[in-house]
Amino acid sequence: MKDKKIKKLETERLILRELNVNDAEDVFKNWTSDDEVSKYVRWSTHKNIEETIEYLKNEEKRCKTEDYYTWGIVLKEQQELIGAIAAFISEEGRYEMGYNISKKYWGNGYTTEALKKVLEYLSKDVGIHKFMCAHDYLNPASGAVMRKAGFKYVKDSTYTKFDGSETFKSKVYYLDI
Ligand SMILES: CC(C)(COP(=O)(O)OP(=O)(O)OC[C@H]1O[C@@H](n2cnc3c(N)ncnc32)[C@H](O)[C@@H]1OP(=O)(O)O)[C@@H](O)C(=O)NCCC(=O)NCCS
Repeated sequence: MKDKKIKKLETERLILRELNVNDAEDVFKNWTSDDEVSKYVRWSTHKNIEETIEYLKNEEKRCKTEDYYTWGIVLKEQQELIGAIAAFISEEGRYEMGYNISKKYWGNGYTTEALKKVLEYLSKDVGIHKFMCAHDYLNPASGAVMRKAGFKYVKDSTYTKFDGSETFKSKVYYLDI
């Protein structure tokens, strides 16, 4: 397969760009080492920076494939890398969106701003039209982000951490653009 590039995107307050191993320190400090950020997501808290380096190496590889996209979320003004947003083909044949940002920056609308931009890019420029998202029922902030980006609730389900350590009861949302 030909290498695919992650396109740099821009919003009013954010730059969305590809992640690479040079980001390991910021990624580890700002979110992968934080139990509160990892609580309801599929990855588990990284115990050391080596785990984050491994994660970033894998992301670089995956992002070269057709069905996988991850952008780092950078605050334009401070030039700080504060989180990540990803899209990957799910078992349902829809592109599943996942996102997390540093706790320090929760509640400023940054994730909604990033999600809207990524959806616009993937639908208009890449030609992807069917999306889904899922959040644990105890993580309503994530549901709020989905609804603000236009997603509609469709069903209850479950999802499990990559390491199998925990299964979550989830609310599943769809968006057709
Ligand atoms: C979920 C997460 C990505 C939201 O990021 P964010 O940048 O704070 O999101 P936004 O500011 O764009 O929007 C958050 C919305 O949730 C709302 N919210 C926050 N806490 C809430 C709660 N307890 N109940 C209901 N809504 C809540 C906010 O009011 C806001 O909505 P509003 O703008 O209409 O007021 C962030 O909290 C995070 O990284 N969490 C850890 C990782 C995670 O859970 N990822 C999602 C996995 S499904």
